[in-house]
Amino acid sequence: MPEPVVLEMQGAIARITVNNPPVNALCHAVRAGLLDCVRRADRDTGVDGIVIVCAGRTFIAGADISEFGKPPREPILHDVLAAIERASKPVVAAIHGTALGGGLELALCCHYRVATSDARIGLPEVKLGLLPGAGGTQRLPRVLGVEAALDAMLTGRMLDAPGVAERGDGAIDAVLDGSIADASVNWLRGRLAESLPLRRVRDMPVPGNADAAVFERFETRAARETRGQFAPRQIIACVRAATELDFDEGLKFERARFGECMQNPQSGAMRHLFFAEREAARIPDVPRDTPRRPINAAAVVGAGTMGAGIAMCFANAGIPVTLTDASSEALNRAVARIRDNYDRSAARGRLDTQTVERRMGLITAEAGLHVASRADLVVEAVYEDLELKKQIFAELARECRDDAILATNTSTLDVNQIAASTTTPERVLGLHFFSPANVMRLVEVVRGQTTANDVLATAMGLVRRLRKVGVVSGVCYGFIGNRMLEGYAREAGFLLLEGVSPERIDRVMRDFGFPMGPLQMGDLAGNDVGARVRAERRAAGELPEDPRYGRVHDRLAELGRHGQKSGKGLYRYGEDGRTPEPDPEVERLIREEAEALGVKPREVSDREILERCLLPLINEGLAILEEGIALRASDIDIVWVNGYGFPVYEGGPMYYAEQLGLGHVLERLRHYGRTLGNAFDYWTPAPLLEQLAAQRLALKDWTRD
Ligand code: CAA
Repeated sequence: MPEPVVLEMQGAIARITVNNPPVNALCHAVRAGLLDCVRRADRDTGVDGIVIVCAGRTFIAGADISEFGKPPREPILHDVLAAIERASKPVVAAIHGTALGGGLELALCCHYRVATSDARIGLPEVKLGLLPGAGGTQRLPRVLGVEAALDAMLTGRMLDAPGVAERGDGAIDAVLDGSIADASVNWLRGRLAESLPLRRVRDMPVPGNADAAVFERFETRAARETRGQFAPRQIIACVRAATELDFDEGLKFERARFGECMQNPQSGAMRHLFFAEREAARIPDVPRDTPRRPINAAAVVGAGTMGAGIAMCFANAGIPVTLTDASSEALNRAVARIRDNYDRSAARGRLDTQTVERRMGLITAEAGLHVASRADLVVEAVYEDLELKKQIFAELARECRDDAILATNTSTLDVNQIAASTTTPERVLGLHFFSPANVMRLVEVVRGQTTANDVLATAMGLVRRLRKVGVVSGVCYGFIGNRMLEGYAREAGFLLLEGVSPERIDRVMRDFGFPMGPLQMGDLAGNDVGARVRAERRAAGELPEDPRYGRVHDRLAELGRHGQKSGKGLYRYGEDGRTPEPDPEVERLIREEAEALGVKPREVSDREILERCLLPLINEGLAILEEGIALRASDIDIVWVNGYGFPVYEGGPMYYAEQLGLGHVLERLRHYGRTLGNAFDYWTPAPLLEQLAAQRLALKDWTRD
């Protein structure tokens, strides 16, 4: 093992190189090595200045997250940073790649920061339920100002080094060309004469006058954008402290708040998701070095809302895409919708007009399936109709090159049957995007019985290139996400019949942390769609013979109450077409249906609402795991957090279940089976749940034999 930190002399400059692949995280060995090298260089009278640089793909990307939750080992990061800041000679942080979290905090303790033109900096701790706990909340406002620093820390967004350098406030002192390791040494040589007295960020005043109104504005924003999260409020309090306390008091304040964040269960959940997301990319029987097919051109078949959104995903990632449809009117509408979407982003300042034009330039719209012959990958996104999809795939297989990948965006249909309609089923798989496709991060990558390994690996790589998160799912009705949704929606519908108001059901689930409740979500997805799927499944004998099942929503669909898109569904929608309002007509309808079915109104507690919605979802997750539809429990968490708005700070349904205790989950399922009846097996625990609870095994320790 090479030393993780080495010191070499470059004339009178000591160059300290951190080499801890893959991202130079500040693990114990790196902290110890840095402290030792900085102290040695500082003591050495032959050293005039020090450069800290990193080997490999990036500057230090932060503390080592895998060490969190374990007992701290000295030297702690604070001691390393203090030694750097207190050095008697100028220290330069030479940044390439990304300087994140503790990495940026270390750079802020250096006396200068230089960077490559493609370097980025950021304090993403909020995404882990933490705050920058090594002085970041005290030092970043001193170089960027309160508002820019708060914006960076509350969103966790990275900032481009050249943009930061242009501000001229000392956050980045220079952008250098050529090898950063050499260029930074030369740069420091040119600065030595004017470097004393050393400039320390801690001694700088916080610029501007951040009054109470600024903090209030950020509080309001945090309450809206990171509702229910603990860390954002602590970050704001720390930055406020930076403006009110002296530096060392501010540091103490930050440290105490950091400890609170670390102790808070939210951080454990969010760290779980960090690793879960990376784990999702691993497919046990598809090695990482599986060759991938080049994807330089894509085609999307079907110019509806989904197809247009998927085309945007390709254009956003710089991949030329042809959108095709049988109807040229639909194509024109889709292009107009895409243009409108980009223009609105530009109007909000999120995109510049050049980017809009570049992306529009990557999208071609042309009628006829023959256009797919130019594509390396085709995504079919037509109406959910198995026969239609089979026909399209048979034709695509004839039109496309032999090595082109054929994907279906179906959310419910059998990918194996679709694949079987082609002569080359090994190149077929599902790419299930979530709506709106250009916004939602999740893509379920559905592996059919015959999908070739390189096709799957290419699809996973592509999803990453689209800056989304891919989760592998086996073939079953609804795949991972929609299959679990079924029990959630079912119980919400039953609760309505039992006399619980829609607003209350949705409120309880929002209070838990979902951005919207199940009934609002149904109105957004469209009651007509749900009713159609139910009718087909009922005809195929796939639904329980329970007259209550989907009853309220089927009636709504019959009445043309399709949801938000028709101005009324379970709710009615006011002027803006988006704000749900209770509708007495629906209350009456629910009462009539309940009477017809003989369902009596009951007293239902908030706890029952929450449990009745969540427990079936969790139980189905365990069944999915046992059947091998999901590769691992944490994949299910990624699906629900990224596709359905399950609160990040609960870590996803499987992580949440584990926190509740699997034994407790089992006991509550049995409780509802006893009290509500279990004629349709709604409350029958998944065998895996019984097994894990009996053996007191954690989900992550369970392996399928
Ligand atoms: N600690 C431990 N491991 C880390 C890590 C960290 N800070 N950052 C990344 N890794 C690991 C990943 O788990 C992954 O491991 P596997 O290959 O085994 O899955 C590997 O490094 C590569 O990571 P990515 O797949 O994410 O690579 P990427 O090139 O897509 O992205 C990155 C690189 C932008 C640095 C991204 O990994 C990232 O955002 N990392 C987290 C950065 C972060 O949150 N830093 C703050 C840490 S908290 C902190 O510093 C607290 C403090 O105040 C002291």
